[in-house]
Amino acid sequence: GKMLYNDQIMERESVMDIEDRAYQFGDGVYEVIGVYDGTPLMMDEHMERLERSARELRLDLPAPVKDIKANLEKLVEANELEEGIIYMQISRGIASREHAFPEPGTQAVTVAYTREETRQSDLEDNGGTAVLAEDIRWLRCDIKTLNLLPNVMAKQKAVENDAVEAILHRGNTVTEASASNVFIVKDGELYTHPADNYILNGITRRKIIQLSGELGIKVNEQTYTVDDLLNADEVFISATKQDIVPILKVDDQTIGDGRAGKITHKILQAFRSLYQ
Ligand code: PDD
Repeated sequence: GKMLYNDQIMERESVMDIEDRAYQFGDGVYEVIGVYDGTPLMMDEHMERLERSARELRLDLPAPVKDIKANLEKLVEANELEEGIIYMQISRGIASREHAFPEPGTQAVTVAYTREETRQSDLEDNGGTAVLAEDIRWLRCDIKTLNLLPNVMAKQKAVENDAVEAILHRGNTVTEASASNVFIVKDGELYTHPADNYILNGITRRKIIQLSGELGIKVNEQTYTVDDLLNADEVFISATKQDIVPILKVDDQTIGDGRAGKITHKILQAFRSLYQ
C-alpha cells in the first residue's frame, strides 16, 4: 500500500532514518483513527488531541492540523481503505543524536499508513477476559507519546494469559488498560478514572460519556479501586476501532454473572449507531 511521508503519498518503502528521534528516544506523538465504510470516525477529535500532545511536548507540528487531516484523508483514498485504521506519528525530526531538543528549525517528520481490520463484532458482543498489571508508566499518561514499553509489557502479559487486555492499577487505584480505557458499572451507574495525568483521555471514552448522558446513564469520572473493579456488576474497555469490549473475568474473579452486561450492551448499540 501507500504511506504518507511528510506531505507526500508514496510507496511504502524505506524512508526512515536511524537518527529520527522517534527511533532513538520515542520522541514523538501518535494517533490511531478508526475508519468505517471508508470514513474516518471522529477525525477532528483525534486531530485536536494530536495538537495537544504535541504542545505538551513542545513539539512544533510541521503543518496546521487541517493540512495533516487532508493528507490523512488522501491516504485513505489512495489505499481504498474501507474498514480499518489509520496509524500516524509525528517525531521531533531527524538530527544528530543528543537528548536535548535539536536545533530550532529541525523539521518534524510525519508518517502514516493504513491497515485493513475487520470488525470484531463477536468480541464486542460476547466479551473477553482481562488480567491485572501494575501501572509502571510515567506521570504524563495524558500525552499520546510513542513511548509505550510499559504498555507493551502489560499487553504481553494479557496475551500470555489468553486475555484481551491488561487492566492497570497504581497501587490500589485502577487507572486504565494497556491500550484502552476502563469503565465499571455499579448499581446502574458508570465509573471511570478522571481525565487527568494518569490516563489517556480516549476519544472513545469521551464519546461513551456523551452517549451515556443521552441514554440517562450517570457517569462518575472518579477513581475506584481494584476491589471495586472485581466487585463491579459490569466491566468494559474502550478504544479506537475495538470500540467497546465487555470484560467477563479479571484474573480469577468472574465479573457479575460472567456474561456481557445490559448497560454495556446499551452503550455499545448507541456507539454502533455512530457509523451504521
Ligand atoms: N490506544 N488508553 C491508552 C493507554 C491507549 O493507548 C488508548 C488507545 C486508549 C483509548 O483511546 P482512544 O479511544 O482515543 O483510542 C486509552 C490506541 C488505539 C493504540 O495505541 O493502538
